Amino acid sequence: MNALDVGVYGLGVMGEAFALNLESRGLAVAVYNRTAERTTQFLQGRAKGRRIQGFTDLKEFVRSLSKPRMIVLFVKAGRPVDEVVETLTGMLEKGDIIMDCGNSHYRDSDRRFAELRGRGIRFLGVGVSGGEEGALKGPSMMFGGDFSAYVEAENKIGRAAAVFENSRCVSYFGEGGGGHFVKIVHNGIEYAIMQAIAEAYDYLARGVGLSTGEVGSVFEDWGRGILRSFLLEAAARVLKYIDTETGKPLVELILDEAEQKGTGRWAVEAAMELGVSAPTIAAAVNERTLTTQRILRRPREGVGFNRDKNVEEAVEAARSALLVTTLLSYIQGISLLQAGARIYGFRVSEALRVWRAGCIIRSRIVEELYRELSWSPGDPASVTLDKSIPQIEELMPHWLQFITDASRMRIPTPASMSALSYYLSLRSERLPANLIQGIRDYFGGHMFKRVDREGYFHSDWGRSSE
Ligand SMILES: NC(=O)c1ccc[n+]([C@@H]2O[C@H](COP(=O)([O-])OP(=O)(O)OC[C@H]3O[C@@H](n4cnc5c(N)ncnc54)[C@H](OP(=O)(O)O)[C@@H]3O)[C@@H](O)[C@H]2O)c1
Repeated sequence: MNALDVGVYGLGVMGEAFALNLESRGLAVAVYNRTAERTTQFLQGRAKGRRIQGFTDLKEFVRSLSKPRMIVLFVKAGRPVDEVVETLTGMLEKGDIIMDCGNSHYRDSDRRFAELRGRGIRFLGVGVSGGEEGALKGPSMMFGGDFSAYVEAENKIGRAAAVFENSRCVSYFGEGGGGHFVKIVHNGIEYAIMQAIAEAYDYLARGVGLSTGEVGSVFEDWGRGILRSFLLEAAARVLKYIDTETGKPLVELILDEAEQKGTGRWAVEAAMELGVSAPTIAAAVNERTLTTQRILRRPREGVGFNRDKNVEEAVEAARSALLVTTLLSYIQGISLLQAGARIYGFRVSEALRVWRAGCIIRSRIVEELYRELSWSPGDPASVTLDKSIPQIEELMPHWLQFITDASRMRIPTPASMSALSYYLSLRSERLPANLIQGIRDYFGGHMFKRVDREGYFHSDWGRSSE
């Protein structure tokens, strides 16, 4: 039997799709899943007639691979990855490659990379974005870990990735957890944009009185311009889909409690740890949490809804808010990428390059940001902000109208509001942090810097003369 090119461990939603993708690019694929029935089902179903060989014995799965072996993991993040890596490592030889393609925390990938290096196994932590369809047709792939393994993986696995203007949406983001760090930032931005889209829907449907389908059509229209994005297109399709059983838009029948798997929270934690302000990402995570805090929710439906307002104006207000909030979410994400780049040594623009196709946040804005950042020298977040300021200022009246109008109607807009205060802070020559510093020094002797002299100072704030 000829040795197989690559092994896929884990036949859940992503593993199955990625195995099929690899096979469609001319690779002979070995597959294994903890629960053997899933492997059998896959072989008898979607994998039938393809160059995909299934194994129920892990040792045989490993033995079937050409050397150095390359094994792609698509298993649940956390302890399962450690368990699988530990078992596999006992069966592998020096130089073999383990690629963890799940949504692992970047610190776990740092640790696994270091541990496996000591044992001669080359580890890659890979952020994969694009959901099931991306995994099947071409995802965006953010690699971190062993560089020599990356070169081999790019050559073999990279052909399964999305392509944008002849360039594969694959890149290397440094040793250890660099790739998973970039994926976490991607997911943080994804949370923020989804929240902003949901706010536009809430305002236009509940506040202005458009039907669900009409909001879907408005989103489709926006998607033909600067706001073109996978997420907006997905939102339009979800809004326009009619449940065949009830004849109602299915989205209206969905319980309004958002779930999360933790990557948004990790983005916020990373921002906090690395000293980066990312309030819109944090607002989106908080809002998802709040939707599930039923015990605190006191419905006040119908208060002050303004169904007589000028619909065109309202649509423009919502469009402007979404555009500006999206831009500011990217700026926060880019700031976080910069902090990661200082640890892992990657180029921020590379993240935008690989996000142009295949991934969930692919959009015209990402394409434009990449174009800008790929040639502009200087601090990427500042470059993006400077480029965005004229547009934000132009849209400011509509954005403010959206926030005040929504607030008057008691419709929450946490993403837009947090983006507004972020922007106002960035545009303030002087912030009231001087008073914070004064109070800190007053009660804790924490000292402060002055604007008129060098050094740190402490005051007794008049206590000695009391
Ligand atoms: N779904 C997405 O859109 C998406 C996108 C990007 C990244 N990801 C990430 O990709 C990974 C896989 O996601 P998925 O959606 O394919 O998940 P899934 O459909 O829930 O499948 C999970 C897989 O993990 C295996 N597994 C769980 N615990 C295990 C353990 N202790 N030992 C061995 N195998 C174990 C399961 O095996 P059994 O069949 O035996 O239970 C199954 O094959 C996750 O980290 C996820 O966050 C998902």
